Amino acid sequence: MSASGPGQFGQFAGQAVDEATQTAWKHAAAEAAVREVSDGAIVGLGTGSTAEGMLHALAARVSQGLRMRGVATSERTQTLAQSLGIPMAALDEVDHLDLSFDGADEVILPTLDLLKGRGGALLREKLVAASSRYRIILVDATKITRTLGVGAAIPVEVETFGWRHTAARLAAPGCHITRRAQLAHPGDPADAPFLSDGGHYILDLLFDQPPDIPAVAARIKAITGVVEHGLFLGMTERVYIGGPDGVRYADRGR
Ligand code: A5P
Repeated sequence: MSASGPGQFGQFAGQAVDEATQTAWKHAAAEAAVREVSDGAIVGLGTGSTAEGMLHALAARVSQGLRMRGVATSERTQTLAQSLGIPMAALDEVDHLDLSFDGADEVILPTLDLLKGRGGALLREKLVAASSRYRIILVDATKITRTLGVGAAIPVEVETFGWRHTAARLAAPGCHITRRAQLAHPGDPADAPFLSDGGHYILDLLFDQPPDIPAVAARIKAITGVVEHGLFLGMTERVYIGGPDGVRYADRGR
């Protein structure tokens, strides 16, 4: 495995790679990353399909004798981790986390600034990341991009009370706002809104042109009614990237 440079994976951004290949790349990144867990570690456990691969790889290490405790970033992750036999703790039962693993929707090299939240778990993901000493992101090569918020929407978790007013405060030229709909469940009304684990709505903000990301993050965070957004800036130490040449990693700023 070797370190990667900013230009090595950009050619996959936005490209359609078949699902089986993408899944294999995600799993390879997850398998490589879980080798970083030391005995006795308290580990943040992310949400999403890549994080699920990580849970299976971590559970295999636990079954071989690794002692660790996990802290879940969603109810979904809590349920799967427990079913795989990973010992778990709640965030408030630990003082800190030694490291955390999570997926991402878009990653910029070499800053490792991220867009997260397509799975709707961004608030708990950010809370767990904020309490972790070392944060590792696992992605396939299609997630490496040059800009955030254009190829994928920036998710913003908002209080349900008065959400239309919050959406109006978020409005900006060239920014398209959609309230996220429930993932299809049989019997759901077609327009049922998605609800996060914390009982909030998600508004997805898609920009026509690459926005000034630090400015957008600060502006969104300052709006009344906003709980959190999916921009993770300066919150990642290492990213593992699965791609056609195997798994590489990049450390922030290199
Ligand atoms: C969950 O809320 C998200 O932040 C996911 O971590 C992110 O969407 C990546 O998901 P996949 O690993 O499924 O691509």
